[in-house]
Amino acid sequence: MYGTAIPKPPTALGKNSELNASPPDKPKLMHGGNYIKEGRDSAKSTCLIFSPKEDDSVGALGKYLKLFAQHEVNLLHIESRSSLRRANIYEFMVECAPGGNLGAVIEDLQKQCSYFSIISRNHKDNMGTVPWFPRRIRDLDKFANQILSYGSELDSDHPGFTDPVYRQRRKYFADLAYHYRHGQPIPRVEYTKEEIKTWGTVFRNLTKLYPKYACKEHNHVFPLLIENCGYREDNIPQLEDISNFLKDCTGFTLRPVAGLLSSRDFLAGLAFRVFHSTQYIRHGSKPLYTPEPDVCHEVLGHVPLFADPSFAQFCQVVGLASLGAPDEYIEKLATCFWFTVEYGMCRQNGELKAYGAGLLSSFGELEYCLSGEPELRPFEPTKTALQKYPITEYQPVYFVAEDFEDAKQKMIKFAESIPRKFGVRYDPYTQTINIIDSKHQIEDLVYNVNQEVQILMDALRKLNQ
Ligand SMILES: [Fe+2]
Repeated sequence: MYGTAIPKPPTALGKNSELNASPPDKPKLMHGGNYIKEGRDSAKSTCLIFSPKEDDSVGALGKYLKLFAQHEVNLLHIESRSSLRRANIYEFMVECAPGGNLGAVIEDLQKQCSYFSIISRNHKDNMGTVPWFPRRIRDLDKFANQILSYGSELDSDHPGFTDPVYRQRRKYFADLAYHYRHGQPIPRVEYTKEEIKTWGTVFRNLTKLYPKYACKEHNHVFPLLIENCGYREDNIPQLEDISNFLKDCTGFTLRPVAGLLSSRDFLAGLAFRVFHSTQYIRHGSKPLYTPEPDVCHEVLGHVPLFADPSFAQFCQVVGLASLGAPDEYIEKLATCFWFTVEYGMCRQNGELKAYGAGLLSSFGELEYCLSGEPELRPFEPTKTALQKYPITEYQPVYFVAEDFEDAKQKMIKFAESIPRKFGVRYDPYTQTINIIDSKHQIEDLVYNVNQEVQILMDALRKLNQ
């Protein structure tokens, strides 16, 4: 049994309300080269983007700014730039302070503009606001510390609650993560003898079970982790080494986290192939139990699967689907994540195997899930997304996927049902999210795909010669 890396639906929204955009002087290439206004720590500001109608371009900004003054909305930032959506058109981005009649401004702008969009961390679905989401990988810094509980705060029934040394240690780990920023190496930790002993007990017990219970992808990668990342009974592997290993395999990286993130933020990380990972270890008094994710859960349960290309893609599909999605869909995606990445099972050569990290890091539940006792259902996102689940006891129901490819296709289909007025695409070269909401952008992307196809056709021709 163990806790969850993603808590139930978000209860705490973050602080930044910032906008990603393209540079004002960007030449012909319309996507890529993302510019981000490095905004202030404005918890309640709202960003509006709008383009004037074609016949309304001279003096348009002055006309629109009057609307803000009329409705007493103060502006924190204004900029204009060439539109991502149409050639030779400008768009304006304004960041509004809280206060005034913003609803009236929005209503007026919607009537008067050829394009209009709202991005806000404090979104309201009924205003058509797109919830803020990270556009560049370094944006993950902006919510990394907007956690629902700090890692050193323990509940009274936590095994380490009355242990001052353990609590001090938890604070040390939480502080390490709190000060981490994108691009830095993950701090190496010197684990204590007691911590290594706890790890050793978990490692010894679980590795005995993997050949029989774990999916083939997990068993394929595990020896590579022993070889490359120092997975040993007497050594707790370092997140930095693992992150570098995963980067070589699938582009996934780890990022230390100081506490529980909201589901929205946690899932957003997956869109960038970033997994937020804890670095502390469970309390030594109960080595086979943890009420929350710890380093054993992350590196034994999650990490091996992130090295598998199909699984990595599946996780990114869930992450991309979450960007800008309404709250109710975030909950559905988090539930799908729970029943796949955390507690998923699959069928391989006619046998049931575990691939969920919650199973692969739990000595008791790994045997239990395959005991024939719990109910098994096929993984079907529309139904799985509605299933309730306990977080501190064995799951009464597990969902079985045919394979990761099948699960991914089903998730892609499910993602299509999420009401969102734009498509998203991850650009691995710039590690940014492209928002696709115009034909112009699609034409550019089709052009790029065509170039890729030409490379493949050329290679095929050479093979056929
Ligand atoms: Fe987890």
